[in-house]
Amino acid sequence: MGEKERWGTRVGLILAMSGNAVGLGNFLRFPVQAAQNGGGAFMIPYFICFLLLGIPLMWVEWSIGRHGGKYGHSSTPGMMERIWDHPAAKYVGVLGLFMPMIVMIYYTYIESWSLGYAIFTATGGYWGATEFAPMQAFLHSYQGIPIDMANPEIANAGISYFSSIWPAYILFIITLACNIWILSKGVSGGIEVMAKIAMPTLFLFAIVLVIRVLTLGTPDPSIPEASIAAGMGFVWNPVPEALTDPGVWLAAAGQVFFTLSLGFGSIQCYASYLRENDDIALTGLATGSVNEFAEVVLGGTLAIPAAVAFFGIERTQELAQSSFDLAFAVMPSLFQQIPGGQFFGAMWFALLFLAGITSSLAIGQPIMAFLQEELHMSRNKAALTLGALVFVGCQPVIFYNQQGFLSEFDFWAGTFGLVVFATIEIILFAWVFGIDRGWEELTRGADMKVPRIFRTIIKYVTPTMLLVILGSWVFSILPPVLRYEGVNPDYIPYVRAARLMMIGIFIALCAAVAYAWRNRTNGPGATDA
Ligand code: PHE
Repeated sequence: MGEKERWGTRVGLILAMSGNAVGLGNFLRFPVQAAQNGGGAFMIPYFICFLLLGIPLMWVEWSIGRHGGKYGHSSTPGMMERIWDHPAAKYVGVLGLFMPMIVMIYYTYIESWSLGYAIFTATGGYWGATEFAPMQAFLHSYQGIPIDMANPEIANAGISYFSSIWPAYILFIITLACNIWILSKGVSGGIEVMAKIAMPTLFLFAIVLVIRVLTLGTPDPSIPEASIAAGMGFVWNPVPEALTDPGVWLAAAGQVFFTLSLGFGSIQCYASYLRENDDIALTGLATGSVNEFAEVVLGGTLAIPAAVAFFGIERTQELAQSSFDLAFAVMPSLFQQIPGGQFFGAMWFALLFLAGITSSLAIGQPIMAFLQEELHMSRNKAALTLGALVFVGCQPVIFYNQQGFLSEFDFWAGTFGLVVFATIEIILFAWVFGIDRGWEELTRGADMKVPRIFRTIIKYVTPTMLLVILGSWVFSILPPVLRYEGVNPDYIPYVRAARLMMIGIFIALCAAVAYAWRNRTNGPGATDA
């Protein structure tokens, strides 16, 4: 083990951390969540959750990460032990390997669709089919989902569909290889360099697209209710009833977690490459704010308002049931209806790809760190191992996507798991490590004065809110899911297999941690400080 890796520059750190947070969640997940949960009214619970869950947890995760990094740990099993001196602590930390492992498997796959679509848009691969039905069929054919050629709208659309899943498969391998290659270059030589290129490009693309969308006007004067003004209104006009619906609050909290990368082990990992007295308070707040700008201002102005401008509110609500349909079927159909659509369309998918890759690197890095530090692999070997694991894990997701593998992974690891890990983590930080040491950790080297009220928030308010959220998950959301309610009976065996696979991965990771700790003679943490 050589010297611990570090970020090269502060700007690089800020860009990498922003790249971590700004991802598909900002441009795909947020607009759909907002539209489905009361439009403008969603923003009230969302903002409250950002203030009372998002910011405190950001600071807690940066603190845990920088603290763990001091002892040579960049993954959560070792970090948890540093805030809770107990043999079980490292197994709590397994959650910070489990979620990245599962999420990386499907996240890179979705990321590879954006790469594919950037290419198909630039080359006009689906040009000519402006309706939604053929565009959705095109997406399904790409994903290997059977399409209904008996439907004349699809059969006579005048475009050719994919006859096999291999193009998607190959693009996935290319995307995964890019990720692994960058990760093998290390934190400052790979992730940071990529962030310095990708983040400014991403913002440039997003701003160009926002201007394009805002100048759409009323594209089809024969449907005056379909306009950009109506689209912005749909995202922003509050539906007050939404405020009393607990489902909306859960959705808002879930979105805050996902978009800020909280409860994954990823923020902690990036923060561990700081020095002991580097500022975390201001930098954490700054990158969180960059993410919110990208989400609320940029993400909120793109897909949904554009769709409403073309299809009107009612139809958009039907179409935006799935974020994939919105991004990969609705958007392509409307690009074909604007001048320069091929150019803007390719930009939209390139934007998604850049947002995706800077996040998937952040999802993979905790596992890289674990393999290098705790299992003593070289960086190249760790990268290849991670690549092999994701490659194998992705097979059922690619081939049985329709049967529910992807959504099952997203539900347990990308949604529920975050709440579980965040709850345990903040309780350990504020109550076991103790708020006095925690506060000292957060404010050491700080370039801003952290308002004292956050001490109380971190100790009481955030944990209480998290326990309430966790309670409603356990008592109201999980029981029907565990009974397979609403699952197509033919798919139940696949859903069950997806769950067994996750359990298997969790157990394997626990075993890897047990093995690493047993063989610990001179690794990180072996000598107690
Ligand atoms: N925050 C990212 C997004 O919005 C996803 C992510 C999760 C990234 C976990 C890193 C770690 O898409």
